[in-house]
Amino acid sequence: MRSRPTLHLTVGLPGVGKTTLARELERAGGALRLTPDEWMVPLFGVRWTEFDGKRDVLEGRLVWVGHQVLRAGGSVILDFGCWSSEERHALRAIAGLAGADFALHYVTLPEDERRERATRRWREAPEQTFAMTDDDHERFRALFTPPTTDELRGCSPPQPPAPFESWPAWASDRWPTLPRLDV
Ligand SMILES: Nc1ncnc2c1ncn2[C@@H]1O[C@H](COP(=O)(O)OP(=O)(O)OP(=O)(O)O)[C@@H](O)[C@H]1O
Ligand SMILES: [Mg+2]
Repeated sequence: MRSRPTLHLTVGLPGVGKTTLARELERAGGALRLTPDEWMVPLFGVRWTEFDGKRDVLEGRLVWVGHQVLRAGGSVILDFGCWSSEERHALRAIAGLAGADFALHYVTLPEDERRERATRRWREAPEQTFAMTDDDHERFRALFTPPTTDELRGCSPPQPPAPFESWPAWASDRWPTLPRLDV
């Protein structure tokens, strides 16, 4: 019997090494890696901070493609960062809909090292990132919700917030270019 595909999700703040890990997973397991930073400039000619909504447009379609690949039996890596627990719950539910396993890869680093690497990445690949000030880093840390122990253990997600009747319904609202996958 063919083994179940896996939806891998990289989670963590800028510079922690998510894309480096995503590339390793890609090499090790033959999964399709979808890293939005590699698509923003070729598609839109802008970096993701510079154009409201463009990244959401892109991510919705990448989730949709990822779901199709999972249903066809292939594994997928969404190299999204996913700072909110709702986004992570929704993607876990979508993996379940496709009959796939879900693997959350939470990447962390000591804060000084993370900032150093984020700065290095800006020097090495300015087309894929942006210069971050100390204020930006503080803001990002405040916005980031680390995965809970339950999330890391792979427990079932809680109910979605009202008025959404399912996590895929929530996901289609969060990413309007993602069609409803559960109807
Ligand atoms: N183990 C390591 N040792 C030293 N440098 C590393 C290591 N892993 C990654 N780096 C470097 O750190 C920088 C950030 O890594 P990477 O791009 O993988 O992080 P990221 O979490 O995807 O960042 P972003 O959120 O900005 O996309 C890169 O310049 C990368 O080459
Ligand atoms: Mg990255």
